[in-house]
Amino acid sequence: MDVLVIGSGGREHALCWSLSASPLIGRLFCAPGNGGIAEVATCVPVDPLDFPALIAFCQKEKIGFVVVGPEGPLVAGVVEALEGAGIKTFGPTSKAAALEGSKGFTKDLCARYDIPTAAYKRCTNAAEAKAFIAERGAPIVVKADGLAAGKGVVVATSVEEANKAVDDIMGGAFGAAGAELVVEEFLDGEEISFFALCDGKNALPLLSAQDHKRVFDGDQGPNTGGMGAYSPAPVMTAALEAEVMARIVRPTMAGMAKEGRPFTGILFAGLMITAKGPQLIEYNTRFGDPECQVLMARLKSDLLPALLAARDGVLDRFDLRWSDDAALCVVMAAKGYPGDVKKGDEIRNLEAANKVPGVTVFHAGTRRDGDRILANGGRVLGVTAIAPTVREARERAYKAVDAIDWPGGFCRRDIAWRAMERAS
Ligand code: AMP
Ligand code: GLY
Repeated sequence: MDVLVIGSGGREHALCWSLSASPLIGRLFCAPGNGGIAEVATCVPVDPLDFPALIAFCQKEKIGFVVVGPEGPLVAGVVEALEGAGIKTFGPTSKAAALEGSKGFTKDLCARYDIPTAAYKRCTNAAEAKAFIAERGAPIVVKADGLAAGKGVVVATSVEEANKAVDDIMGGAFGAAGAELVVEEFLDGEEISFFALCDGKNALPLLSAQDHKRVFDGDQGPNTGGMGAYSPAPVMTAALEAEVMARIVRPTMAGMAKEGRPFTGILFAGLMITAKGPQLIEYNTRFGDPECQVLMARLKSDLLPALLAARDGVLDRFDLRWSDDAALCVVMAAKGYPGDVKKGDEIRNLEAANKVPGVTVFHAGTRRDGDRILANGGRVLGVTAIAPTVREARERAYKAVDAIDWPGGFCRRDIAWRAMERAS
């Protein structure tokens, strides 16, 4: 079967890497892809938001299945556009992707189906938001309703900071995404990412992982898309997973189906494990990046039939096998990220890094120029290692990082610090 993956990040490199190993794969394309994806797939210069161009490409190449990586095209309706043209596509429709596209929608769904989450208020004007902040006090969390590339959330430690966040968001800092906002109670606990594969009715639990959102060691500095991840998250026990499935994931699936928005795709639950049990922070409707890199490193089964079974609504008799080993991904970013970065520096010695046992270097913002790999974005590489323990995976990943010659790059040195603290 010929497959098209949509996206250009480390997540899509990991998906292409996994799909390329499937015995069922014919030709594998990626739109638009990157310098590393080009090693396992044919990159095609089609814009993920240009639906007519995507449809034309799929029809010309007789693509049998499309896998959508990022949230932007999902929320904009790529799945119904492609399916409407008769092209099988993995991912939620825009109606189902509202779980990521509107925080207010998700909070109301949680309220209707008794799904544990922080107390909240949806607000369409600043006065209303500030009145709720005055009533609840700090710490308190202020969020733009719509997609804001992970930057539309302020965890405020004072009422003044929360009020300023309201003014910034309503003042247009996030464009239309900030026309509405959600103010919510601060949740105290340990944060994890949990993933389920969904077919509209059934949800198959995948794995847990822990992301590192702040740019610098010790969780300092501004938020980013994610500077590293590892799996499993030690806090996620089998009992806790069962509780998350029973109280959060399955009620969400049932509620969405009941409301005429059946959810097909990857449900990514951002969870806070609090003293009162697991609480939903937010949903994303796709794999995490860099969480996908560690999930694919641990996947032993063929990914393609699993995604097809989800698309076809037949996950109930499906299962996946995972490695018991730990996987860890260190993101190397261009200096300046998450702000402005310099593009075009050459990155050398990637072969040496890929030769470290258990290591795969996934590319995000890279571009190929003949034999050379050039930096071409903020997050540039995801150096991913697998090993029997998280400590060994971490040693391998940093050994590979140190083999890479790229003076314009940097990374966090403390990925998986929580797991290290637990183990010692
Ligand atoms: P979100 O984009 O909703 O995941 O928020 C970004 C980050 O802000 C999350 O990963 C959490 O670290 C933090 N956060 C969001 N909501 C809350 C909350 N209610 N309590 C504490 N931290 C939160
Ligand atoms: N790493 C977090 C995300 O993909 O949203």
